Amino acid sequence: MLKIKNLLSADDLSKEDLLEIIELGERIMKSPEEFSHSCDGKLLGTLFFEPSTRTRLSFESAMNRLGGRVVGFSDSKASSSQKGESLRDTVRTVSQYADIIAMRHPQEGAAKLASTTSDCPLINAGDGGHQHPTQTLTDILTITSYKKRLTNLKIGICGDLKYGRTVHSLLKVMSMFDGNEYVLISPDELKIPSYFKEQVLDANNMPYTECLNLEDVIDDLDILYMTRIQKERFFSLQKYIRLKDSYVLDPKKLENAKKDLIIMHPLPRVTEISTEVDSDPRALYFKQVKCGMYVRMALIMKLLEANNA
Ligand code: NCD
Repeated sequence: MLKIKNLLSADDLSKEDLLEIIELGERIMKSPEEFSHSCDGKLLGTLFFEPSTRTRLSFESAMNRLGGRVVGFSDSKASSSQKGESLRDTVRTVSQYADIIAMRHPQEGAAKLASTTSDCPLINAGDGGHQHPTQTLTDILTITSYKKRLTNLKIGICGDLKYGRTVHSLLKVMSMFDGNEYVLISPDELKIPSYFKEQVLDANNMPYTECLNLEDVIDDLDILYMTRIQKERFFSLQKYIRLKDSYVLDPKKLENAKKDLIIMHPLPRVTEISTEVDSDPRALYFKQVKCGMYVRMALIMKLLEANNA
């Protein structure tokens, strides 16, 4: 049984809790029909104050496939926040209707704030450039399923390492597993923040190198995790325009990559992976989307169980 009420950050997950969710995710993936009534009569509230396709639909599909139902909004303009209602009140209200809430918000720390007034378990579906723990569960289920291990891997993470919340959550969780090496590939301006290096990478003795060119390191990688340059988090459009095409993964760059490399991406993709790569058997990003639904089914079940909801 999980020891947490909410999932707000990758920090909330102990290794035991993480592996429990992943193990259930794997079982659901093998035979989803066995779980089609696991959440009969339960209601998920989805509060999306920031755009999303995958994460919201993934949560909604997950709850529907478990036999539960969903209420919520995908556009905060249609909610009472437009009338000046505080986030804390909106969440408190919805937690009177729903058994569990998934929330995305543009402000860092919003999920933690919301959890203080929620009367039901709350899942952070992304808060600004901060954290995105359910994308990490998705990534971990993908790696477990397709690499069969979470240790002794050389993992390249490429793109916007400054604002990419999926990168921050993934590295935090990977700090629990030994023997991995990390290659952080980004333009100078989008390097992983120095506080993060100190508090996560150095604090956990995670071996890492930083570099600018994907071509220089791709041959050696077991996993390549591509990310989008996070346009919405830039203060200057000009800077975004200068950096937006920093990396474009194409078949030529993959020529010398390992045969069993896996290419991951949390999506949405903009220009950083050419569509020609999609048919390469190493391209896993759409399979990753499916893992995201299964792992959210597992998380919903586990949080409801832990909270006796
Ligand atoms: C990511 C996010 O929202 O942080 N998308 C997702 O949830 N799959 C990645 C991104 O937007 O670049």
